[in-house]
Amino acid sequence: YLQSSKIVYNHIGPKAYVLPREYNRNEAANIYNFPVRSDDVFVVTFPKSGTTWTQELVWLLLNDLDYEKAKKKLNDRFPFLEASLFSFEDTFSGHVKDGEVQDFGPPTVDDIKALPSPRFIKTHLPLSLLPPNLLEETKVVYVTRDPRDVAVSFYHHYKLMRVMAPDRDFKTYWNFFMNGKITFGPYFASVLEAWEKRNHPNMLFLFYEELSKDLPGVIRRVANFFDRKITEEQIEELREHLKFDNFKKNKSVNYQDMQDKGIFMKDGGFVRKGKVGGWREYFDEEMTVQAEKWINDYVKDTDFKFPE
Ligand code: A3P
Repeated sequence: YLQSSKIVYNHIGPKAYVLPREYNRNEAANIYNFPVRSDDVFVVTFPKSGTTWTQELVWLLLNDLDYEKAKKKLNDRFPFLEASLFSFEDTFSGHVKDGEVQDFGPPTVDDIKALPSPRFIKTHLPLSLLPPNLLEETKVVYVTRDPRDVAVSFYHHYKLMRVMAPDRDFKTYWNFFMNGKITFGPYFASVLEAWEKRNHPNMLFLFYEELSKDLPGVIRRVANFFDRKITEEQIEELREHLKFDNFKKNKSVNYQDMQDKGIFMKDGGFVRKGKVGGWREYFDEEMTVQAEKWINDYVKDTDFKFPE
């Protein structure tokens, strides 16, 4: 099913998470023992839950809304902790120009360790695989999203990254998703781990649906969480900057470079639809019922609730 020879998924970790091969080989302990600083800022998510959107919001709020500085690529301002665990060697080695390597690929965990403070770090790893003192040391923003929309978004992402054949149907993908057999899966194991910590004073737990419904309200919550003052005018400016249409056009956040480098397919894009409930176009009657049962089975013994 997974076509790429570049990525081999292993079931490892305390809850049998599906993680890139290199994690298992080299970096599990390095990440678990990552020295957290009190001025680090972490955005932790399951993939396709609104990570990029939240990163840009958080970064701007904590960088005096400096839109000039925000022209630098988000990946450089807010690196992806486990980016180097995905083996893109063959793609990256293509960037030799005039006999010189132009691009050495993503930063390693050690590169990120060595960054000056304040560090902004994105990760898709579940909390149990991150440093155990993370929440004691610093602030974490966690974002989640309706798993049906996550699955549709991830399905397109798999195609974008050529991890999956372009003609694969969604139903097959959804079955893998439900069974946790997708990168960083299972979805609920990861989300419920974070949910348990949602009342920790250093944890802000957000939903994509909240950003979508009331972005100014979320901006205020994030500002409060980080003890930042923000005026109504600044909120309005930030809301405009983060608006889907503007975000899609913004080359510092839309991963256009990944397409330019050929890492992503030419068709499609990272900032894709940005809809709540777009899953309805992909689920037939049977899948809809099945999905409701699947969600309910996971949440029924918890107080986890998606926003109304
Ligand atoms: P869709 O594929 O459903 O459109 P992540 O950053 O975690 O990978 O999440 C990507 C998802 O967030 C994509 O969802 C993308 O379109 C959506 N997204 C990114 N920026 C957005 C924005 N400014 N407004 C709304 N949705 C956004």
